[in-house]
This record gives sequence, C-alpha cells and structure tokens, in this order.
Amino acid sequence: MTEKTEKTEKQDMERTVVTPDASRDRGPDDTADSAAPNDGADSRSRPLLEVEHLQVVYPNGARGVQDVSLTVREAEIVAVLGRNGAGKTSILRGIAGFLRSEHAAVAGRVALSGHDISGATPMRTFRRGVMLVPERDKVFSALTVADHLRLAARPGGGKDPCAFPALDRLRQSKAGLLSGGERQMLALEVAWRNDPRLLLVDEASLGLAPIAVKSLMEQLRVIARERGTALIAVEQDASVALRLADRVYVIDRGETVWEGLSSQASAAELARQYLGTAR
Ligand SMILES: Nc1ncnc2c1ncn2[C@@H]1O[C@H](COP(=O)(O)OP(=O)(O)O)[C@@H](O)[C@H]1O
Ligand SMILES: [Mg+2]
Repeated sequence: MTEKTEKTEKQDMERTVVTPDASRDRGPDDTADSAAPNDGADSRSRPLLEVEHLQVVYPNGARGVQDVSLTVREAEIVAVLGRNGAGKTSILRGIAGFLRSEHAAVAGRVALSGHDISGATPMRTFRRGVMLVPERDKVFSALTVADHLRLAARPGGGKDPCAFPALDRLRQSKAGLLSGGERQMLALEVAWRNDPRLLLVDEASLGLAPIAVKSLMEQLRVIARERGTALIAVEQDASVALRLADRVYVIDRGETVWEGLSSQASAAELARQYLGTAR
C-alpha cells in the first residue's frame, strides 16, 4: 500500500488501529476464511472485498448499476459518492445479496477474502461478516434503545457500554422519539454488536443537520478504526465523503467516473464535475 499523507483533522480523530481477528468462528460454511493465506502479513493491505463488473438490472428493465468494480481492504474506509439515482444503493444491496428477493438480474463477481459470494443470500453474506445499515427503516420505532441492544447482542451483552456514548443515556427512550442522528447511531450500534468485518452504510447523513453529520461521521470513523471494521459509506455530499473515507469512488449513471484517495481530492471539484452541485 502506498504511504499517503492524511489530513490532520483525520489524524486527530483516529486512535488505536485494531486489525480484525481472522480466526473467529463464522459458522461451518465459513471456516475457510480463517485459513486465509496472508495471516500474519500486513492484513490492512490485503483486499477484503472485491467487486468486479457489477451490473444490476431491475425487473422493469431499469439499470441500477451498469458496470462498477471496487475494492475495499481490511479495515479500510471507502466512500461511494454520487447524486440521487446514481446506483449507490443498488451497489450496496447487490454486495449484501438483497436484490435476489427483488428478482433483479445481478451480474459480475463479488468476493470476500477471496471467497466468491456472488449471488449469496443476505443470511450468508451476514454470516461472513457483511452488514448493511439501510437508508430507511433501520430501527423499530416502538422499541426502546435498550430493546434494540438486547436483541442485537449475544446473551447478557445488552448491558455493554455503547460505542456511541450518547445512546447510554437514552436506553429507556423509544427509537421513534429519537432525533435523526440518534436513530442513525442506534442502527450503527446494533450493526456493530454483530461484529461485522464489513459495514455497508447507506446515506447515514441523510436529513441530518450539519452539526449532527459532523459528530456522527467523526464517531463512525473513530469506532471503525478502533475495531478494525472496513466500511463502505454511501454519500451524496462530497465533503462528508472525503472527511470520512480513506478512498472515494464517484458513481454516475451506474458507472465509476472517478476514484482516488480522499487526501488527493477536492470536494468542490468533485461536486462541480460529477455531482452537479456547486459547493
Ligand atoms: N426496485 C427498483 N426497481 C426499479 N428500478 C429501481 C429500483 N431501485 C432502484 N431503481 C433504479 O435504479 C437506479 C439506481 O437507483 P439507486 O441504486 O437507488 O440509486 P441511489 O442510491 O444512488 O440514489 C435509479 O434509476 C432507480 O430508479
Ligand atoms: Mg440510495
């Protein structure tokens, strides 16, 4: 991996980097993962997710994704940036296996730690450590924060302190009464309690006030770094994407139109060239 100069702002946000434990049990279907050949080598530089020439066509003929290839390394934070309708959600749902139930035609190859998971069910990708935090309907309004934590955790783990400390003060609140930022934190907290290797986060910043976005993204980056979780964060705002991610793919009309290191990109330039927004 090429060395790169990170923004000082990012360095401030980062604490200890913990690499994921490759030996943990993911069920009988997945034992091969623990025998990955590069164990002991620089685990952060090896690919965790490889997506090659992904295409998604919906039953009505609409093309969700034309041709997208992307790679996420262990513990890397990648942003997929694009305007509304670009194909971002289709990419995440294609990776996690959610398009089967919509009878969409999905072509291309998706591999996790070298294992082909193209066409796998959401349950199988989940068991391999892939978790999707969707754009909508991510929490149950009628349940409290504590209920969510109990449901998400291993037995007895519901009382563990939250990665997002604000949630610890809200345990008795109904999820439906939380602010947008708090609901987003709860969805991410629940996902993390399932110990993901790769977290797919669809527009976490949507509808939040700028101050809430800043705080959420800073915490997201710190927690991902501490736990060694790889992330794909889908965003429509270039400055949010660049602050959060190590690398960015810009998608337009289902195709990759730009990719590169966040440290070498300008939010204003990306917005002007690819997002049709002057920022
Ligand atoms: N379930 C669906 N059925 C038909 N077309 C869809 C469906 N979901 C998305 N699309 C279409 O696929 C394209 C990409 O959508 P989407 O992946 O949701 O984009 P984004 O998340 O970037 O806004 C759009 O043209 C959208 O209308
Ligand atoms: Mg979307």
